[in-house]
Amino acid sequence: MDAATHGSAPRPLGLLAELTHRCPLACPYCSNPLALEGRTDELDTATWARVFREAAGLGVLQVHLSGGEPAARRDLVEITQAAHDASLYTNLITSAVGVTDKLLGGLSDAGLDHVQISIQDSEAESADHIAGYKGAFKRKQALAAQVTALKIPLTVNAVMHRANIDRIGEMVDLALALGATRVEIAHAQYYGWALKNRGALMPTAEQVARSTVAVEALRAKYHGAIVIDAVVPDYHARYPKACVGGWGRRSLNVTPSGKVLPCHAAETLPGLEFWNVREHSLADIWDNAPSFMAFRGTDWMQEPCRSCARREVDFGGCRCQAFALTGDARATDPVCHLSPHHAHVGELAGVQEDAPYTYRR
Ligand code: SF4
Ligand code: FES
Repeated sequence: MDAATHGSAPRPLGLLAELTHRCPLACPYCSNPLALEGRTDELDTATWARVFREAAGLGVLQVHLSGGEPAARRDLVEITQAAHDASLYTNLITSAVGVTDKLLGGLSDAGLDHVQISIQDSEAESADHIAGYKGAFKRKQALAAQVTALKIPLTVNAVMHRANIDRIGEMVDLALALGATRVEIAHAQYYGWALKNRGALMPTAEQVARSTVAVEALRAKYHGAIVIDAVVPDYHARYPKACVGGWGRRSLNVTPSGKVLPCHAAETLPGLEFWNVREHSLADIWDNAPSFMAFRGTDWMQEPCRSCARREVDFGGCRCQAFALTGDARATDPVCHLSPHHAHVGELAGVQEDAPYTYRR
């Protein structure tokens, strides 16, 4: 049996706690759903504390406190304390806007283990333009300084797309200058709101090729100084990613209102039933909720995945992407060159629209 198993089901290691969908930024690549959950539907502090205890009991080691912008919650310190008390490693994923010195101090005292700041570009004007928020870049720099002053490990998350992918080197330099120990070069994923901006965000094949060479050179140059996490962007890859480490295998998401999802974009898939932590324990949901059973393992697969040697490597790729591009959530992720729909991905990768961003407001 796999080391990370729980009864017959695998065991989750990570929990994404989407504390709120409220966010001051308006990024065109936002992968949150089109219909956001409102403030009045958000789980209260005590329920989050119970969820964290149940998560730890289920084997979860790490909780990502995310959103929206988690600092929009007035009880963020109490929530962080509850996660810490449940013995979870706590990672705050933040835009930096709204995280004051006082709040960060409180979070640090509550046991916050790690901070991840998203940065939209290495140039202030472009970064603020992409974020749809004037002054965001400056605020991010200031928060990074406060984080490192408190000796909390810092990761810079850089979402790359056509407007900034040629500045990967500058982004890594910026992350180093800010004192980050890790930089995550994440390419825009076309789910949720981001799908509206796909043509405006899509990098060209030449840009992707240049960036791949650049990343290798940066890794060699900064070996030992900063960890650079980067993968080839989906539409330009030959094989798909093992999205969320395989459906119902490694992680779960809890939405602001308490729905538990196998992945961030699962609500885009038709016909799935999501159980809520208000009515079920996390263990019951993990083991028995129909949404987690739907694509767990390999029995649901069609050809070519069903007989493919990589079926337990990438688990057929991303279900949400398969559905978005083929209309069939059980299809092989068309990013895979073995998919009968792969040519369509190539066509989409070639569509760069010179259109203004549609901001999330
Ligand atoms: Fe992965 Fe399916 Fe492609 Fe095989 S056919 S590489 S399992 S996506
Ligand atoms: Fe849902 Fe990949 S985002 S499976």
